[in-house]
Amino acid sequence: MTDRAHMVIAIDGPAASGKSSTSQWVADRLRYRHVDSGSLYRAVTAAMLRTGQPADRWTAAQMLAAGARVTLRPELTAFVALIDGKDATEEIRGSAVTAHVSQVAQVPEIRAWVNARVREAAESHDVVVDGRDMGTAVFPDAPLKIFLVADSWERARRRLTQRLGRGPTEAEVAEETDLLVQRDGRDATQTVQAKDAVLLDTTYLTQAEQVERIVALAHAVSHRPDET
Ligand code: CDP
Repeated sequence: MTDRAHMVIAIDGPAASGKSSTSQWVADRLRYRHVDSGSLYRAVTAAMLRTGQPADRWTAAQMLAAGARVTLRPELTAFVALIDGKDATEEIRGSAVTAHVSQVAQVPEIRAWVNARVREAAESHDVVVDGRDMGTAVFPDAPLKIFLVADSWERARRRLTQRLGRGPTEAEVAEETDLLVQRDGRDATQTVQAKDAVLLDTTYLTQAEQVERIVALAHAVSHRPDET
């Protein structure tokens, strides 16, 4: 075990693999707080888009200045990303942000800034953190690491159902699958499964089933006798 004061469950995986919703549900069940690292990359991207500058001219310094406008507000079982002190949840999920976020996430200074915010959030509370590299770059000593995967067609179908509030057509799923696979390609370097992560393929699992598996693993880890 580690000398960390608070428990960390790290959940990583590719785009739309269900990390955020699963992490929130697990956090609600365990009374932990969910930290969505993707929401920080998204909030920096939204703050940059607000400046109106063309994305191909964005510099690391400008992105860091955008980051200075982003904070995490603690709630009962979550942290909410704010821009200039205001909830930006809807804006950061929009297609413009999704199209540009991988560019921002490539910048080492921004990765360091996000990682510092996530570590800070984990200092004061038990957390479920989700992203691409939480179990490798940010919390290599996390007692429980999960790597969530799902078939890309199924990921696209779920994401669209969530966004549209109805069952999508085949053509819509095909188009969304293309976008997801392209983003997976842009994020490939930082999407890393830790050697000690539990691989969970959710293609044929319901959300409730995947949450139950992770909660059971969390109970097993927290009841394990201290090895030190
Ligand atoms: O929810 P979804 O899977 O669409 O993505 P997200 O978790 O909201 O992350 C949005 C973007 O942030 C990703 O496409 C990555 O470019 C970036 N990201 C990252 O590089 N590292 C993380 N730990 C989390 C997100």
